[in-house]
Amino acid sequence: MTRLNLLMLAALTVLSSNRAMGDEAKPTIKLPAFEPYAVDGAAMWEQFTDSSASRWRRSQAEKKGEEGLRYDGEWEVEELTKLAGIEGDKALVVKSEARHHAISAKLDKTFDPATDGMVFQYEVKLQESLGCGGAYAKLLTTPFAGEFSDATPYTIMFGPDKCGESKIHLIFRHKNPITGEYTEHHLDQPPMPPVDHLSHLYTLVIHPNNTFNMLVDNVEKRTGSLLADFVPPVNPPKEIVDENDKKPEDWVDDAEIPDPKARKPEDWDEDAPLLIPDEEAEKPKGWLEDEPLMVPAPDAEKPADWDDEEDGDWSPPLVPNPKCEDAPGCGPWERPMKRNPEFKGQWSAPLIENPLYKGQWAPRNIPNPAFFEDLELYKLNKIDAVGFELADVASQIAKDVWAPKLASENEVEVATRPKPPPAPKPQMPPVLDMFKARFVEVIDSIHAFYEEFTNEGIISALRNERHGAFGILMLAAGLSWMMWNIVLVFGFVSRIWRETTPRAPGAGAAAAGSGDAAEGSSTGRAAAAATTATKRSAKKSE
Ligand SMILES: *[C@@H]1O[C@H](CO)[C@@H](O)[C@H](O)[C@H]1NC(C)=O
Repeated sequence: MTRLNLLMLAALTVLSSNRAMGDEAKPTIKLPAFEPYAVDGAAMWEQFTDSSASRWRRSQAEKKGEEGLRYDGEWEVEELTKLAGIEGDKALVVKSEARHHAISAKLDKTFDPATDGMVFQYEVKLQESLGCGGAYAKLLTTPFAGEFSDATPYTIMFGPDKCGESKIHLIFRHKNPITGEYTEHHLDQPPMPPVDHLSHLYTLVIHPNNTFNMLVDNVEKRTGSLLADFVPPVNPPKEIVDENDKKPEDWVDDAEIPDPKARKPEDWDEDAPLLIPDEEAEKPKGWLEDEPLMVPAPDAEKPADWDDEEDGDWSPPLVPNPKCEDAPGCGPWERPMKRNPEFKGQWSAPLIENPLYKGQWAPRNIPNPAFFEDLELYKLNKIDAVGFELADVASQIAKDVWAPKLASENEVEVATRPKPPPAPKPQMPPVLDMFKARFVEVIDSIHAFYEEFTNEGIISALRNERHGAFGILMLAAGLSWMMWNIVLVFGFVSRIWRETTPRAPGAGAAAAGSGDAAEGSSTGRAAAAATTATKRSAKKSE
């Protein structure tokens, strides 16, 4: 098994405003205490203890990409304030909001990825949320001058970025062996980073067979090839199109030509017209050939102030000939036109395959003068420093350092999670809410209907799309209620009548019986037609 050189960093880049944290709920659980962890054979191992703070140099350089801007953000090695999982665990914390931060640390000695490949691993915890910015690290190419900025050449850029679409960057710079120029090669379709406030572990492994693994929280997120999965690809195409190639004068690229042997048929009359008069058409009966379409108005009179000398001879205005009104037509009759069956149009020879056709012309390919082939991309440029703008041991660190930290943070997160709001106010049951809403709707409708009724009249109010239906319902309810009252009054009157009138035995009983029956059936009908309110009043009155 290949033993990989390690370039590692247990760093916590954290976005933390200077806001007071006092009001934050303190965890009630006891946190495990920080214990320094030792790593052998790593080019760099950083846990951000007090003694390591001096190793990091804050940049105050000018930004090359944005003129006039300087890196002026502050950094601090300090204990975490939010969801800390380990007592006394410190991190490199970004201190100034909305400013440009850059910080770097030199390696003790230059690291060469060509020797055995490389592992690069670090932690990121977004203590406050990251609005728009990167939490990625750059491995700075040798020789490193000392002050880190956006213009500093890097070998690899790796880590989360959240601005627009969030992604985990993986970019490496490669030197073209022919031109000497550097090109940035970006991982195609990079994965998304986690966005919560916990510590997340980012690991990049580059193998000597030009493959890489990207892990987040020790779980593989992406694996691929340095040769095939980056844009633009490092190695240029072997051949390119020859821009100077020209189509030869005598190149034939017409696939078809008119048949030279074809002759126009004898009977092909190119002059035959498209339309000819329809000889079968007949003049409609009653057509008034001698009647003009317009005639002088019969009752027109020469105006009194018409001066023949000045205005010329007076003639009456023309009006449509009244005789033509009932006739199928007036004036000379003409045959309608129809399509000429003899019409053929211009003759042209049919197309045949061109015997001289050479195919579509395309410029030829020539060997690419800029071609090179680097099949050892893992041999990245040597690295001098780590700047912010590991296999066997790395996974051991993941297990020993990061995993317990995350487990503890998760416990803290659960313990300090905001409790559900205290006993919610007794709320109106949804059914009651619904009734309330319906009631408001009904009141609104009554109001709108009444407004229109008083302003525009009953017909317009009933026709209205919105509350017209409601008006009709009310009208129906009102009528039913009125009828019900009439029935009641009628029943009441007939009872008094019965009780006060001396009755003939037999006949009276029959009359009373039929009266009761009528009342009963009316009640049934009225109740069926009426609204609930009417039904209730019907019950009450029974
Ligand atoms: C490249 O090397 C790594 C580590 O030895 C191995 O896991 C991986 O399968 C190899 N990939 C290829 C395509 O050979």
